[in-house]
Amino acid sequence: ACGSSSDGGNGGSGGDGLTMGFAQVGAESGWRSANTTSIRETAKKDGVDLKFSDAQQKQENQIKAIRSYIQQKVDVIAFSPVVETGWDAVLQEAKRAKIPVILTDRAVDSDDDSLYVTFLGSDFVEEGEKAGQWLVDNAQDADVDKNGDVNVVELQGTTGAAPAIDRKKGFEDVTSSDDAIKIIASQTGDFTRDGGKKVMEAFLQSHDDIDVVYAHNDDMGLGAIEAIEAAGKKPGTDIKIITVDAVKDGMTALSEGKINFIVECNPLLGPQLMELAKKVVAGEDVPKRVVTEETTFTQDQAKQVLADRQY
Ligand code: AHR
Repeated sequence: ACGSSSDGGNGGSGGDGLTMGFAQVGAESGWRSANTTSIRETAKKDGVDLKFSDAQQKQENQIKAIRSYIQQKVDVIAFSPVVETGWDAVLQEAKRAKIPVILTDRAVDSDDDSLYVTFLGSDFVEEGEKAGQWLVDNAQDADVDKNGDVNVVELQGTTGAAPAIDRKKGFEDVTSSDDAIKIIASQTGDFTRDGGKKVMEAFLQSHDDIDVVYAHNDDMGLGAIEAIEAAGKKPGTDIKIITVDAVKDGMTALSEGKINFIVECNPLLGPQLMELAKKVVAGEDVPKRVVTEETTFTQDQAKQVLADRQY
């Protein structure tokens, strides 16, 4: 069953007793935990009555949660869709009930953009492009066995999820400009550490010429590090590793030389989400798309910022 709870809107100011139903993806990664904390803490601070549910990475659970928020007549529904497709029916129910919907972090793939008021989150294609660009710029160094091929294995995020689809696309778009770079295997690790470890173990057994791991998030990259070390190789040296997120565990591994490059994905969406929600409920206009600002980190940069990293 999907867990749900109400945090109450005690003590804060500015939310004016606004009630928000938030259908979260799950607790699959360090990124997701930081995202949940940001949303809960900001709601509390802003006096927003937050009803929160954890879908355990299952679309059916998210749909159930959204239906229950419609029944409870919340003022606004926000959610981070686990996969891109299959939302039209439930979003039409919300529309008929005149409850505005804010997409947070992940997008839906629908022809009808009247089904949500705005989408707050990262540009995942750009994240994939940044990862690919680093590899193009460092291809010679990444060709660890110096045989002229840069063999990449890819650990994909949850199948059908916007960040998995878009990070794959952005990376492929940029790396296809370099004939030496070849994606020799690509599989989902479901954005979890355990998933990344298991898939990497299988990759290491079937390929003895892996130069690079491209993991769609830090957690899968951290799982891959465990698999690489267990196989007697040195992550970051024998096999280069590129990941996305820049959570504390990822940044620690980067600063220790076990990861080579991280593309940041910002999970601290709470403040912007509550701002948008207040405006939407007050009937004010908001932009249809709000893109989060993000950077990238090399090993040296990670060493400099690690101590101040909040999550
Ligand atoms: O949707 C954002 C992605 O979801 C994060 O990059 C990943 O860690 C999380 O599970």
